[in-house]
Amino acid sequence: MINILIGIVHWVNTNEEPSQTALTAAAARAAHLIVDDEPRIFADVLASAMLGDQAEEFLSYHRAHGTHLVLRSARAQATCRSRYTEDRLADSVRGGVTQYVILGAGLDSFGYRSGLADQVRVFEVDHPATQQRKRRLLSAARIPAPDSLTFVPVDFENDSLEERLIKGGFDPARPALVSWLGVTMYLSRAAIGQTLAVIGHFAPGTEIITDHMLPGGLRDEAGDSYVEQVAPVAAQRGEPWLTFLSPGDMSDLLVEHGFGSIEHVRQRDTVDAATWNRSDSLRPIELSCLAHATIARLHARSCISAPPSNLTRARYSFECTTVHLKP
Ligand SMILES: C[S@@+](CC[C@H](N)C(=O)[O-])C[C@H]1O[C@@H](n2cnc3c(N)ncnc32)[C@H](O)[C@@H]1O
Repeated sequence: MINILIGIVHWVNTNEEPSQTALTAAAARAAHLIVDDEPRIFADVLASAMLGDQAEEFLSYHRAHGTHLVLRSARAQATCRSRYTEDRLADSVRGGVTQYVILGAGLDSFGYRSGLADQVRVFEVDHPATQQRKRRLLSAARIPAPDSLTFVPVDFENDSLEERLIKGGFDPARPALVSWLGVTMYLSRAAIGQTLAVIGHFAPGTEIITDHMLPGGLRDEAGDSYVEQVAPVAAQRGEPWLTFLSPGDMSDLLVEHGFGSIEHVRQRDTVDAATWNRSDSLRPIELSCLAHATIARLHARSCISAPPSNLTRARYSFECTTVHLKP
């Protein structure tokens, strides 16, 4: 068991050290191409190279114990959220979006791998320590960063995201797609709100795709088991899960910060149903949920502070959003 957990939460971390979970998420994507069968959910063909010297060690856990609930769920989680996001990004680029902001990028390889990367300006935002390590890993793997990609070092708990993004060349007057995957659980609710407040003031039409850990009661048995096994070790090793949100909690946060057209996407719905018709151990679990939302024309702040006189504040906030909960 301890080997499996080390494969997920590698060693003691502090705020000043690069994120270990960024490595384990990349390892899960790399391992998916090795231990899982067709149909592949997501092909991150650079993940293994980006892990450098540590690739073999991480992959060995998946090779030896890949059917264990913790490891197969980590692969399902990391691949489903990336697949959903890059599919939506492709739609947005077709619709004219030219900026892609990756919050808490970790070892996300979109900018170095995707055919779409030359159609968008990519802004990789991450904790400075994690970003520095990524740049070292990229350099060691001889993977060049394209001119269209900008690294933006930000600590969500302490730094101004808006200031750093604009300094990096981001144009807040033009719509963007913002992904924020595998991060909100590591932040306080206040830090999640602060970040959403910044994005909520970007150009109308800007979309966000983010995931959040579900609280007990909304998880299934496998999700509960994953949390029971992994959360204590994550906390002990310096990256505690601080925030669990229901889809309703996430909707409230999004609406408060100006987002509408909110769609909550369960893991099983990130891909078509046929993808779960599989011969390997990958199964969708109820552990986390994705939210996809768009900045409405009216910011929530103006909805709340100045509702038209014939609407109550709650009703007007509600009318600024459409909540689609897939069954
Ligand atoms: C589990 S990794 C996810 C990485 C990537 N999004 C993925 O899906 O592979 C969590 C990421 O959140 C970032 N992160 C956590 N807390 C942060 C903070 N306070 N400020 C900036 N980034 C943070 C870490 O540096 C790390 O890259």
